[in-house]
Amino acid sequence: MPLKKAVDVKPAHGKLGILLPGMGAVATTFIAGVQAVRRGIGKPIGSMTQMGTIRLGKRTDDRSPAINDYVPLAQLKDIVFGGWDLFSDNAYEAAVRAGVLDTRLLDQLKDELEQIKPMKAVFEQKWVKKLTGPNVKTGTSKMDLAEQVMEDIRQFKAKNGCDRLVAVWCGSTEVYRKPSDVHSSLAKFEAGLLASDDDIAPSQIYAYACLKLGVPYANGAPNLSLDTAALTELARKNQVPVTGKDFKTGQTLMKTILAPGFKARLLGLEGWYSTNILGNRDGEVLDDPESFKSKEVSKLGVLDHILQPHLYPDLYGNIDHVVRINYYKPRGDNKEGWDNIDIVGWLGYPMQIKVNFLCRDSILAAPIVLDLALFIDFAHRAGMSGIQEWLSFYWKSPMTPEGLYPEHDLFIQLMKLKNTLRYTMGDELITHLGAEYYD
Ligand SMILES: NC(=O)c1ccc[n+]([C@@H]2O[C@H](COP(=O)([O-])OP(=O)(O)OC[C@H]3O[C@@H](n4cnc5c(N)ncnc54)[C@H](O)[C@@H]3O)[C@@H](O)[C@H]2O)c1
Repeated sequence: MPLKKAVDVKPAHGKLGILLPGMGAVATTFIAGVQAVRRGIGKPIGSMTQMGTIRLGKRTDDRSPAINDYVPLAQLKDIVFGGWDLFSDNAYEAAVRAGVLDTRLLDQLKDELEQIKPMKAVFEQKWVKKLTGPNVKTGTSKMDLAEQVMEDIRQFKAKNGCDRLVAVWCGSTEVYRKPSDVHSSLAKFEAGLLASDDDIAPSQIYAYACLKLGVPYANGAPNLSLDTAALTELARKNQVPVTGKDFKTGQTLMKTILAPGFKARLLGLEGWYSTNILGNRDGEVLDDPESFKSKEVSKLGVLDHILQPHLYPDLYGNIDHVVRINYYKPRGDNKEGWDNIDIVGWLGYPMQIKVNFLCRDSILAAPIVLDLALFIDFAHRAGMSGIQEWLSFYWKSPMTPEGLYPEHDLFIQLMKLKNTLRYTMGDELITHLGAEYYD
């Protein structure tokens, strides 16, 4: 039963520019990774657009094309990279400093990486207290800064001969702020830019500039950024897809894999204690309580939404959920997470599960950046705009339209993503209804 005629998706002709505000560990691991894959010296493990398949029709049909063959995505050979950072290190220097990838690999990519130099950042230290750097724009107002970013984007596009652009925020986590009056409508936000309103964060200036120019935008950090009424209004008005927030890697990824399993089997939960140590720049930034607050809010929301305590008060009505992150330099980018999970079984008998995840944060984040960049470009060509809930799969704290709760269960998210691709291409959605109901 095809649901509708396939959407007329514009082809992915020409070059796609991927713009990265923030060129630290995640961004450089992503860029170097794509270059390594292009040269055949690495595999894009963890990327659905590069390695995933999608089942079409009945199981007996035996049709499972690669996603990259099924939907018209930009190809890796057609990607060019650009970005902004308050440090002027080129992508090679920044990647070496981040210490995620082996220098033997980076040295093979050195010539290409050195060409990628960050443009001057929009930065204000009150939003990321632990950082200060020299490569920063000055302007007469926040609107002036937004216009400078727009000019950067136009020049980048012309210089690199790009057909299309997308942006993925890979900058540091800004301090926690709730939306204020200036974020309540586009008109107020634009007035606020002109008046350099204190509540407008640098990340929002990039997002505004991109959306004004029709550049699809994804927010990899947990801070508010484009998750405001004003910027989503602009996205809808200019028909640009947006998505966020906070890449789902590491501990939260494990949480959204395990928690749906407990709920599926109706095992109760008394508590979930999560702690992390990490020693990269992200860890240093998160050592500031106000930046950590953005992360904590993003990480804590997950369990409530998956477990639905209002529907299962006996099982999940009183969970003690604690999340800690500590900066511990020797770990570098290789974060270590511990989870202690107190579950409850038949007649209330308690059990414990311990998870010790020795993970590599940026190695888990890089394929997500790639998928998001390719999927928001695809969404734009397919005429989708506003918040892209089908990309919740990639987020710790998925953005939702006003009044809707986010879906956190990784498996529901995956089904939603793949069904959106099937729907766009005019194929039947997969319901997993068994043969019991077939003739
Ligand atoms: N690695 C992961 O698994 C993961 C998961 C979820 C979210 N994140 C988020 O992704 C972001 C990037 O992580 P990372 O490990 O690459 O951090 P990082 O500290 O290595 O890189 C962030 C870069 O952003 C730059 N920056 C900060 N403010 C900026 C601004 N206003 N304009 C331009 N550049 C700016 C910093 O100078 C730095 O180079 C962080 O917000 C982090 O919380 C990472």
